Amino acid sequence: MNTALALEVPFLDLKAQYRALAPEVNRAVTDVLESAQFVGGPSVENFEQEFASYIGARYAIGVSSGTSALELALKVADIGPGDEVLVPANSFFATAEAVSNVGAKPVFTDVDAASFHLDLHSAERMITSRTRAIIPVHLYGRAMDLRLVTEFADAHRLRIIEDAAQAHGSKYNDKTVGASGRLTCFSFYPGKNLGAYGDAGAVTTNDSNEAHKLRLLRDHGSPAKYQHSIIGTNARLDSIQAAILSIKLRHLDHWNQLRRRHATQMSAALADSSVTPPTVPAGGEHVFHLFVVRSPQRNELRHYLSDNGIGTGIHYPVPLHLTEAYQQLGYPGKGALPVAEQLAEEILSLPMYPELTDDQIESTIDAIMHFAG
Ligand SMILES: Cc1ncc(COP(=O)(O)O)c(C=O)c1O
Repeated sequence: MNTALALEVPFLDLKAQYRALAPEVNRAVTDVLESAQFVGGPSVENFEQEFASYIGARYAIGVSSGTSALELALKVADIGPGDEVLVPANSFFATAEAVSNVGAKPVFTDVDAASFHLDLHSAERMITSRTRAIIPVHLYGRAMDLRLVTEFADAHRLRIIEDAAQAHGSKYNDKTVGASGRLTCFSFYPGKNLGAYGDAGAVTTNDSNEAHKLRLLRDHGSPAKYQHSIIGTNARLDSIQAAILSIKLRHLDHWNQLRRRHATQMSAALADSSVTPPTVPAGGEHVFHLFVVRSPQRNELRHYLSDNGIGTGIHYPVPLHLTEAYQQLGYPGKGALPVAEQLAEEILSLPMYPELTDDQIESTIDAIMHFAG
């Protein structure tokens, strides 16, 4: 390709979105600053109500990050030392880390090569008398069909805690991820489909007792100032982030629609190449937090795209059971979870955000077709 003519396509461009929202966001931030209500208060309560109603859950509890959402959800589910929790080997590190941080042990399962989701056959093999919970991850924004997971969990008496950090607004059978009534954990890390301008997260649930406990846990176990009924932590959602999230939530469906449109265009163009585009589940949705393709020549393709000004990512290059941090669990190395290991070598995340222009999409497609057409 003629690099001199190629258009820069950053992997992610958060500035474009901020520019479009700046007047609204700046006003909302100024309002919080002038109210001096920096922790809690109306902006947090409003966002929690708006997010719960958007998702279709009875409660949304704002917390400080997706990681704290997972940690608090595990605590509410009473998972702790001596317990094992099934976690897919191809998630972001935090899914497993949260399990470790409540004193339990993550047990990694292999994944399905087409959906990238947790594989229940593998999970079945990992069950022991200590298994207490399973964390399906709606990875990359692709809603996971939880009917089989629910049967599996019921058969083994497991709690299901959903990791929806990448799946805001995604649906399965017309039900928004998080509306199941179970504990569902969201991250609003800046690059997410619904991203704050700092760290933030939420847990949704339909259970009033669990919602109450989550509110206590995120704020030092405190139902009222200087009363502490349980031992919690500080994992509150801050007011400025909540005000920003309320504004951005109004745009989420439109942004997801744009992501889907870009994805459809790229998938159609790549259909005849040696690169495998992601699929959309029958009966389900994909909100393309990440647009992840597979290529047997992943590293070469990545270098080629980089040389042509196109940013890419790998989510994630090391399956969780092979990370340095989890060597303590004694996995025998490569071969233990073959599908996750194979995927880690072939996956490539292409630029994907609502603000991608047609020219940028064309440039990305042209470069890939030139390499792999
Ligand atoms: C699948 C998944 N789980 C958990 C997290 C943790 O969220 P956070 O970065 O907000 O702590 C993330 C995001 O980074 C994620 O992608």
